[in-house]
Amino acid sequence: MNKITVFENCNVATMVKDTTPYGLIENAKLVVSKGIILWVGAASKCPDEYRSIDSISLEDRLVTPSLIDCHTHIIFGGNRAKEFELRLQGACYEEIARQGGGILSTVTQTRQASFETLLQNALLRVDALMAEGVRAIEIKSGYGLSIADEIRMLEVAAEIEKQRDILVKKTWLAAHAVPPEYKRKTDAYIDEVVIEGLKQAHTKGLIDAVDGFCETIGFTPVQMKRIFDEAKSLGLPVKLHAEQLSDLKGALLVGEYNGLSADHLEYLQDEDVPNFAKNETVAVLLPGAFYTLKETKRPPISALRKHNVDMAVATDCNPGSSPLTSLLTAMNMACTFFDLTPEEALAGTTRNAAKALGIQGAFGKVATDMPTNLAVWNVSHPAELSYWIGSSPLYKTISPSDFS
Ligand code: NIG
Ligand code: FE
Repeated sequence: MNKITVFENCNVATMVKDTTPYGLIENAKLVVSKGIILWVGAASKCPDEYRSIDSISLEDRLVTPSLIDCHTHIIFGGNRAKEFELRLQGACYEEIARQGGGILSTVTQTRQASFETLLQNALLRVDALMAEGVRAIEIKSGYGLSIADEIRMLEVAAEIEKQRDILVKKTWLAAHAVPPEYKRKTDAYIDEVVIEGLKQAHTKGLIDAVDGFCETIGFTPVQMKRIFDEAKSLGLPVKLHAEQLSDLKGALLVGEYNGLSADHLEYLQDEDVPNFAKNETVAVLLPGAFYTLKETKRPPISALRKHNVDMAVATDCNPGSSPLTSLLTAMNMACTFFDLTPEEALAGTTRNAAKALGIQGAFGKVATDMPTNLAVWNVSHPAELSYWIGSSPLYKTISPSDFS
């Protein structure tokens, strides 16, 4: 008979929708075999067959799905603390970018860094996320901007997955900026690097999704459409940095492609939300960038809520606009800056983040037949995960590999 493990004396925030808030089960039992959940529910309702099995007490701790950071640029060379100082003296993000700083300064530092340096520096940040219960992460390319350098970034991402117990979803973001060698030749860059590299990296099995920076300082919707058409012909899902600094209707574009997510959305207009809501695209909120750039315009949260758009929350970990390596802090910021409820914030890093990455079958909720991707916390109520600032209440994670 397969070994069965029973966990007891815990509250479980299952994050299953349409039940009680957080899908919370108090005084729960969790029955597990071979890394799969066999049963979860109130201890009083535990089926007889599991009652005689020795159980492990979680001593009144809280169990949730393990967390998911569904938008990061966690692999990069160097840092941009200098720009942080410039911004504090009054320079703005877009000005710095137009003068060749911003993303392009990280491109220079990323191209110069060795594979091993990129890997080790990214692992420090990944480990910080894992210490907060993150067990699935999205990592974008976008600081290489040549075929070889973009592919190298995704190879670093693949290596992270080999070296840590974390699922890594890899995103092709060559349409992040136009590199100096293609200055004023954006369409040639799209053909020769973005699209040609996309095909090559896809052949190597390095791409799970395709993204772009749709902005006045990035790529136009027309240009993004060309890239999305190529992604579609390869059978790859799309997502988009949309409406972060201006309203180019990128969210509607990615919706038309039934994209996984539209991310940022500060400049998405209330009146565009009903159209956006017609598809299953997740709205990914990135309060770390909002905070770092001292943005004052907030995403249209009430309209998104009213139209039942699934909202996720992520760190956007990157050296320019969000040097943030704490997903719990992103949840806190989503509540404080964007008025999410703590329940919405936790759904944003579990159930909805799983949807934004297309991994709903394995991550994001605690339910029968799901793999045991779980986090156990030294808190008694799930609102505390959004409430505490600056320390990790994680007790431990439980993953399917613990049972093999
Ligand atoms: O999500 N294009 C935007 N990408 C990042 C910023 C990258 C950078 O400044 O290095 C973002 O905010
Ligand atoms: Fe980003």
